[in-house]
Amino acid sequence: MRHFLTLNDLPAADVRAIVARASELKAQPGLAASQQRRTLGLVFEKASTRTRVAFEVAMAQMDGSSVFIATGDSQLSRGEPVEDTARVLSRMVDCIAMRTSDHGRLERFARHSRVPVINALSNDFHPCQLLADMQTFAEHRGAIAGRTAAWVGDGNNVCQSWINAAAVFDFSLRLCCPAGFEPDAQLLAANADRVSLWRRPEAAVTGAGLVVTDVWASMGQEEENAARREAFAGYQVDAELMAKAAPDALFLHCLPAHRGEEVSAELLERCDAVIWDEAENRLHTQKALLEYLLAS
Ligand code: CP
Ligand code: NVA
Repeated sequence: MRHFLTLNDLPAADVRAIVARASELKAQPGLAASQQRRTLGLVFEKASTRTRVAFEVAMAQMDGSSVFIATGDSQLSRGEPVEDTARVLSRMVDCIAMRTSDHGRLERFARHSRVPVINALSNDFHPCQLLADMQTFAEHRGAIAGRTAAWVGDGNNVCQSWINAAAVFDFSLRLCCPAGFEPDAQLLAANADRVSLWRRPEAAVTGAGLVVTDVWASMGQEEENAARREAFAGYQVDAELMAKAAPDALFLHCLPAHRGEEVSAELLERCDAVIWDEAENRLHTQKALLEYLLAS
């Protein structure tokens, strides 16, 4: 039994195979292994559109089912320990996806679960997003191995999963974050061979084959909105910045996007935007991930 709390929880070759499988399932949805009578539990302590719908639709397409458990509706909101919740739910369902703030809480949940637990986003990592991002790059530009990607913005959960992805998929990653908003120092140090820290967005994106960003204030940081807008001024990805990247550079964004902050409205609305494929690929990759975890 394996959990998927970060991209490092599975053998790198298996993560790459899940992404490749997602492209097969995108072309032929009927190929997915039937999950008849299998159930996915979804424990979401934060809002979600893409992640939740992708998991529910994936299970439905494989003839399985899912149970959505919103915090406010469950005993978690009345203080039932996460350990007890994991023990109970994992006797009823076959796999659990959890979205929460504290990554340690997710780890505690997984330690007490009898079934695979998937990180559907924590404050530290968002590995499901990276499966879709890797599929999107592969389908539009081929192998990412040996290429250079530039992250412009907050050193947040998505950024930290990009760092893990650089190791699993063998590419270079330039991180351009304002001072004080860098990712975890230990994670950076452990990946220093592929990941470098930059300050000027124009320099960081020069020649990059991929530019990626995310919101300046993540869920739970709403009160820091104004301060962050000030700190991130000059870090917006727009057409002018993209023009400094490689001529065929892709722009990725996990969504939801804040137009006029981390990304210009014009760039987001461009007819060649692949961010909508990226969002769709959440379904195909999460289906491939479920197929993998439920088979092992
Ligand atoms: N990108 C992402 O995880 O979107 P949701 O918050 O809508 O699930
Ligand atoms: N960094 C964002 C990602 C949302 C999908 C957040 O945590 O809110």
